Amino acid sequence: MEVTIERILPGGLGLAHAEGKTVMVALAAPGDRLRVQIDRVKGNVSFASIEEILTPSPLRVEPPCPYFGRCGGCDFQQMHYQAQLEAKAEIIKDCLRRLARIENIPDFQITAAPNPWHYRSRAQWQYDSIRQTLGYFESGSRQLCDVAACAVLAPELENTLESLRARMQEGLLPDSARDFRAVVGDEAVSIAPSIRSPTVREGSDSIKDSAEIRDITRTIHGETYRLNAESFFQANDGLLPQLIDTAIGEASGETALDLYCGVGLFTLPLARRFKHVVGVESDPAAASFARENLANARLTNAEVAIRDVGVWLDDVKRHDLSRLSEESAAVLQGQMDFVLLDPPRTGAESRVIAGVLGLKPRRISYVSCDPATLARDLKKLLAGGYTLHSLAAFDMFPQTHHVETVVHLVVA
Ligand SMILES: C[S@@+](CC[C@H](N)C(=O)[O-])C[C@H]1O[C@@H](n2cnc3c(N)ncnc32)[C@H](O)[C@@H]1O
Repeated sequence: MEVTIERILPGGLGLAHAEGKTVMVALAAPGDRLRVQIDRVKGNVSFASIEEILTPSPLRVEPPCPYFGRCGGCDFQQMHYQAQLEAKAEIIKDCLRRLARIENIPDFQITAAPNPWHYRSRAQWQYDSIRQTLGYFESGSRQLCDVAACAVLAPELENTLESLRARMQEGLLPDSARDFRAVVGDEAVSIAPSIRSPTVREGSDSIKDSAEIRDITRTIHGETYRLNAESFFQANDGLLPQLIDTAIGEASGETALDLYCGVGLFTLPLARRFKHVVGVESDPAAASFARENLANARLTNAEVAIRDVGVWLDDVKRHDLSRLSEESAAVLQGQMDFVLLDPPRTGAESRVIAGVLGLKPRRISYVSCDPATLARDLKKLLAGGYTLHSLAAFDMFPQTHHVETVVHLVVA
């Protein structure tokens, strides 16, 4: 079948219409004239892959990575960088229009990454000890694409991947490892394997035993964060100062909440602007780093609850203040000035949105790495009495369709 790509959809596929069908094509560029092969059909939509580029879009470039097309990591290398940014802005608008039903989307900027290549300071590599392969999952599958070099990794992580590969070839990686996560610090790289079975954790060849899950320090926008490869941290340092400034904006006042706070990326700067801050994070290791980071910064006006955000907000809603610390309870009884939420890709659960609305904050800042779940949650927040004040996007993930969005809401 021959198609012309109209635009890029949320999820990164190119949209086309032909022979009465809606066709979604992987790794396409807007304006491409393509011969495609239908791989699967779901309802009215045919999912296709490119057989031949009949007329390339003017936005198309030769993907520089030899693994492109097979590796599931990047799906935008076929477009030049400006076209990637435009496609991402369209993706955000599409989600807000279709899923959040926002008619007048305010003008917004998408901030380009300072480095469209070699930017990733955090990565996860899959490992197959039987086939002796190390790399990323292939697109849409659990097959492993063996990757010797990756063009979006920061140089420190390229070196780490190379040295893990060398150790694999010498038979020195633990068979029990399923994957390796790594994060760059100011002084070193922290590496953590995920181990298949807890029993083999005892093995003497385990990287875990060789004390390589070291804690590292990251200095971002004047704040110092301790963390290691097992905790979440943003993957693109280059844009973090702007992301933090935009997420917090001019906000200041009495009380702020930092939901899904991780190791405290936003909690520390919030604690410098608000009298009382509570962070909530379910991963005990990340939460304990957040506490350590606040203590090291001598910020005694913030605390971190190690809880599921939904459960924590339910306790607040039920006024079950006995389950909250004295400090949290006191803070939550007053007027909430600012709630920042930065959930994982799946977005916030309904009870989280209901819990946030119940707190009646003056302002909400939603930081999201998925425009579709952001739009879904935004619809509920708008219906709950808030209005969209501003919107900004950051290209934290060049060469992929992923994009970070920050939305500020105020009481309508
Ligand atoms: C996108 S990260 C944001 C972390 C932090 N704001 C940052 O920028 O570094 C989401 C965080 O939410 C945590 N998390 C995921 N689900 C959660 C839940 N139900 N309750 C509390 N924390 C959760 C994860 O462990 C992770 O640290």
